[in-house]
Amino acid sequence: MSPTTEHENFRGVFTPVTEEVTAFDLPVTGRIPAELNGRYLRNGPNPMSLDDPKLHVFLGDGMVHGVRLRDGRAEWYRNRWVRSARVAERLGEPWPGGPVHDGMDFPANTHVIEHAGRTLALVEAGPRPYELTYELDTIGPCDFGGTLPGGYVAHSKLDPRTGELHAIAYYWGWDHLQYVRIDKAGLVTRTVNIPVEGSPMVHDCALTERYVVVYDLPITFDMELAARGVGLPYSWNERHRARVGLLPREGGAADVRWFDLDPCWVFHTLNAYDDGDRVVVDAVVYPRVFGGGRLEGGLPTLDRWTIDVPAGKVTTSRLDDRAQEFPRVDERYVSLPYRYGYAVCVGDLNERFAVGGPDLNDLDDDAFGNALIKHDLRIGSKQTRNLRRDAYAGEPVFVPAEGAAAEDDGYVLAYVNNPDRGAADLMILSAQDFTGEPVAVVHLPARIPLGFHGSWAPDTR
Ligand SMILES: [Fe+2]
Repeated sequence: MSPTTEHENFRGVFTPVTEEVTAFDLPVTGRIPAELNGRYLRNGPNPMSLDDPKLHVFLGDGMVHGVRLRDGRAEWYRNRWVRSARVAERLGEPWPGGPVHDGMDFPANTHVIEHAGRTLALVEAGPRPYELTYELDTIGPCDFGGTLPGGYVAHSKLDPRTGELHAIAYYWGWDHLQYVRIDKAGLVTRTVNIPVEGSPMVHDCALTERYVVVYDLPITFDMELAARGVGLPYSWNERHRARVGLLPREGGAADVRWFDLDPCWVFHTLNAYDDGDRVVVDAVVYPRVFGGGRLEGGLPTLDRWTIDVPAGKVTTSRLDDRAQEFPRVDERYVSLPYRYGYAVCVGDLNERFAVGGPDLNDLDDDAFGNALIKHDLRIGSKQTRNLRRDAYAGEPVFVPAEGAAAEDDGYVLAYVNNPDRGAADLMILSAQDFTGEPVAVVHLPARIPLGFHGSWAPDTR
C-alpha cells in the first residue's frame, strides 16, 4: 500500500517523495543483459510543497528518476528535482540561471530525453527544457546554443534515419504553433510558425517520412481559469474545430493541409506513417477531456486515423477499446510502417480524478497502471501483462537488443511499484516473451510516484 496524503491530486500512487536518494550497486533478481549500458530515466511531477490544496498534477515540480545499468550491474539509482529558480530557492541553493523564455521558468516535469549528448528534462506550454548532468544534477535552462527562439514542448519525434528531432511547440502568448526541428548536433535548424485560432494545447505530434502531423484539437487557453489562478488554464472548448494538419517536411505554413475531425482529444501518438496517398496516424484518443480544466470526460482508446490526402477526408477505426495510455514503439520505426506497440492500461480516469472521488487505494486491480500491453497491429492482437494490486507501472520503454533484426527483438523497461517493499523496481522484460518471467528486476531503494514519460539513454562514453 502506498503512503497517502490528503491532497486532492497528489495522493495514493501520486504521493510525492520527500528526499533525493543516491544508491549504488542495487540488488537484482535475474540477470541484467550485459548489452544494456546506459540510463533508464523518467520524469514526473513531485511537488516540494503541498501547501496549495488544489495544485494540479500537471504543475508539480519535476523530479527525474534514473537507474544506470552497466556490464550486467545496476550501478546506481538517483532521483533529483529539476532546479528551476523556485525549486532552487526552496532548497536554499543558488539558481544556476540561464536563458528562460518570456519569464516562463518551470521545473520541467513531463519528459526526459537524451539528445546530442544533452540530458533534457522537458515540459510544454512556454518554458524551455532544463539540461541535466549525467548524474541528473541541473545545469540550467537550455536554448540549444541560442538557436531556439521560444519555448519547447514535452514530446518530440526522433527521425531514426536522420537523427533529427521534430516537435510542435505552443504557448498561450502566441497566435501560432511553432514547428521546431533540431539536428543531430543539437541545434535548431528550422522553425515554421503555423497560425491557429484560440491558443490550443498541443501535447504531442506525429511524424511520417513526408509530413509532420499537427493536432489542433478543442482544448484551448482559458482566460477565466487563468485569472482564477487555480488548476490548469486550459479547458475543453466546444467552439474550437477539431482538425489534424499535414505540414510537408520542407514546407511552410501555407503548405499545411488541414482535415476535419469529430471533436476528440489526443495526448499521445503511438506512431504514424505514409501509405501511398494516405497517412496513417495511430494515437490514444479521448472523446473529451478537461471539462472545467480537469482530467475528466471519457476513457481513451487506441484509434487509427487514415487520412486520405487527395480526398481530404479522415477515416477513424478502433485498434483497441481497452482504456490505455503512454503508448510507445520501437523508436527505430518512428515515422515508418511498424508492427508492435506498448502501452499501460488505465482505469476510470473520471473516477480517479474527480473532485471528491474515491481514495485511489480503494480502486480495483484494473486501475491505472496495473497492466502493460503489447500490441501486434499486423494481426490485430495484444498480450496483456497483469500486475499485482498496488504494483502500478509507469510508461513501458522499448530498448532494442544489440544488433536486433526483428522489430520486437529487445527489452521493455518500466518502473513498477513493489507493494511488499513499499519501493519501486525497474522491471526488464523480454519484448518477445512479454508475459513470461522478467529478464531482470532491479530493486530500487525508494518509491517512485506515478509520473509521466521517460527514455532509455544509451551510454556513449
Ligand atoms: Fe505526455
